[in-house]
Amino acid sequence: AAAQKGGYPSFMAKEIHEQATAVADTLLGRIVEGRLQLDEMSIDEAVLRTVDKIVVVACGTAANAGNVAKYAIEHWTRIPVEVELAHEFRYRDPVVNEKTLVVAISQSGETMDTLMAMRHAKEQGAKVVALCNTRGATIPREADAALYLHVGPEIAVASTKAYLGQITASYLLGLYLAQVRGNLFADEVAAIMADLEQIPAHVQTVLDGSAQIEELAREMKDATSVLFLGRHVGYPTALEGALKLKEIAYIHAEGFAAGELKHGPIALVEEGQPVFVIVPSPGGRDSLHSKVVSNIQEVRARGARTLVIAEEGDTVVEPYADVIMRVPATRTLFAPLLTVIPLQIFSCELATAKGLDVDQPRNLAKSVTVE
Ligand code: G6P
Repeated sequence: AAAQKGGYPSFMAKEIHEQATAVADTLLGRIVEGRLQLDEMSIDEAVLRTVDKIVVVACGTAANAGNVAKYAIEHWTRIPVEVELAHEFRYRDPVVNEKTLVVAISQSGETMDTLMAMRHAKEQGAKVVALCNTRGATIPREADAALYLHVGPEIAVASTKAYLGQITASYLLGLYLAQVRGNLFADEVAAIMADLEQIPAHVQTVLDGSAQIEELAREMKDATSVLFLGRHVGYPTALEGALKLKEIAYIHAEGFAAGELKHGPIALVEEGQPVFVIVPSPGGRDSLHSKVVSNIQEVRARGARTLVIAEEGDTVVEPYADVIMRVPATRTLFAPLLTVIPLQIFSCELATAKGLDVDQPRNLAKSVTVE
């Protein structure tokens, strides 16, 4: 097993460090001379043009990928996107019909909750696209179209490289729909995809800086509660950061939408409380950046230790960050592929420092094939 881990202490650590390749592999062969080529999208283009609602169904980490997908797909296609945990969707008599496109996201392709949600949607006449990693699994087989992640087998129970693959595949789906439906001009799609093709190199840059985060994780190994704040696409990243810490390090962790802080969660903050904050690009939309910077000041004024993930060159956040972790600048919508990496490294290293079984956390299974 040691040899299979390629010199890393765990499969999770190995898989985290495979993520530049993972994103490149999800993109491989799908962007041809600036045009998106998704041969697997076997759903009739005429049908795709009638879609008036998209529903993403998934569980766990895949649902967090779905929450990122919502921002991108809605922005590019102007189709309303709902994201719902598959087990909740299935049993609430959801409004689904022939004009609904269901996106089932599942690394394993065998998660029973997601499969049942997808079957229910198909019975109502919806078309289903599956974003999966495992070839020939039940979900991609039963879907109308399957977009594979191609990130290679994921062994660790806590999902990392598949998460990046799921987000990347959802971007491809969103751009494809925008291309088919004429929401974006060909040169706009080409420009967005050119930026997407830069992501593997940026992922590598973040991975090359992992020593700083590993040191922080070892220093924080006795933490009993960690909060994560993010806004816009940083919100699902905060949820995923908290999920990782719960899953493998057994630390109470919660992710919040930064704007929600003043509506409740700030009551939790007391002296020494560690708070990760995912800061939006200062070059991004509206005043998101300054709003999140204000949130950092608010928690810090109440004694929080602020662990800030910010874009390279963002000097505005510096005075309010106890620790600052840098990610390369990219489009706002692509930032989730970079900002989650320090959080993955943090959980993995902290669990390792606690002497826990990082790859096989207690009570969890890689794939849950019962409802
Ligand atoms: C299990 C795993 C999680 C995973 C979830 C969804 O709960 O422990 O790591 O995110 O299932 O898995 P899927 O294979 O559907 O992506």
